[in-house]
Amino acid sequence: MRADSKIKTENSKLARLVPLLLDWFAQNARDLPWRRTQDPYAIWISEIMLQQTQVKTVIPFWERWMKELPTITAAAQAPSAKVHKLWEGLGYYTRVRNLQKAAQQIVESGKRKTENGDAVCRFPEKFDEVLALPGIGRYTAGAICSIAFNQPTPILDGNVIRVLTRIFGIAENPKEKLTNARLWELAEALVGRAALCPSRRDEAAATCHCSHLNQSLMELGALVCTPRQAQCEICPVNKLCVAFKENRTEELPNLGKREAATARRFIAFVIEQRGRFLVRQRPAGVVNAHLWEFPNTETASAKPDARAMFKELFGIAPADIQPLCTVKHSITRYRITVEAFAIPGAALPRKAGAFWKTPAQVRQLALAAAHKKLASAAAKSILFHR
Ligand code: ADE
Repeated sequence: MRADSKIKTENSKLARLVPLLLDWFAQNARDLPWRRTQDPYAIWISEIMLQQTQVKTVIPFWERWMKELPTITAAAQAPSAKVHKLWEGLGYYTRVRNLQKAAQQIVESGKRKTENGDAVCRFPEKFDEVLALPGIGRYTAGAICSIAFNQPTPILDGNVIRVLTRIFGIAENPKEKLTNARLWELAEALVGRAALCPSRRDEAAATCHCSHLNQSLMELGALVCTPRQAQCEICPVNKLCVAFKENRTEELPNLGKREAATARRFIAFVIEQRGRFLVRQRPAGVVNAHLWEFPNTETASAKPDARAMFKELFGIAPADIQPLCTVKHSITRYRITVEAFAIPGAALPRKAGAFWKTPAQVRQLALAAAHKKLASAAAKSILFHR
């Protein structure tokens, strides 16, 4: 096919896709709480939470966050311990620190702008200003500007990559520079066409085609065009889909070889002294920075000697040491096993950076995921109720 006729075919395919996607979204969109608002702050919070986290996990976290911190100013002024606690369990805590930094920047820049003598604290509307905020990349800026302000800003994440590589039969790895650029172009062409789409049957005058087009791609990827066992028979665009026509759905997208997971093993100590437990806060600049945990050390040994490791950490041998539980946890490419030991009735010298906390105080802290499980195992263990 000659180049100009190829472009024509692609343009006509894009033109046909847009109304099909908009109609499908109008009929099939899930009723998600952040879809009931136009508040850019609320939409921003949802998009940050939805980075690397599933919709069903995010819903209660988003609801709690919006109740506790309903405005940008509230998020900017909240104590760090509070925002970490609200994020506890969502993981990837850099997100919440960047989010608070961004809220503080918005509040600060609002102080320099006034309306009738009052400071204005408003989420920025310009794509470049949104993109400049900490923790916001091209995808998130595109999602916020399209959903909150109905701008024709494209989005491309794992779901959208899957949908587009299948519809257009793109066999190259989407991480490759040229292929990635082509996918962004397709996403931009689709949302750009949606912006020009006239209002259709039953639609209110104020349509939000850019918002809905982008969300239709996310939604199709989440509900129909899934990584495995895609439901092509109910897909609204199956007639236009190269992968469906050529029976290549399972092959696409071509993500190359996955990096092998690395197993890591930690020994943790749940140490009790007169009804209090010893915990410490993780320092800045490490994974799970600022979260709390029980003292622990990593080991490369297949048969670790917990007693010796305790002595190494605290300088004295434990009087009593009992297995408490084993917790398994996966994060990014690490498969983590934490083997916990209970040290009831310990008499320990003071250790810098570690604090004795009652069970009620431990519950108030933002704990790293595996350590939250250790805390509930400790609460249930008879070792600490003798
Ligand atoms: N994934 C990322 N953003 C989303 C949104 N706004 N709705 C549903 N899933 C999403």
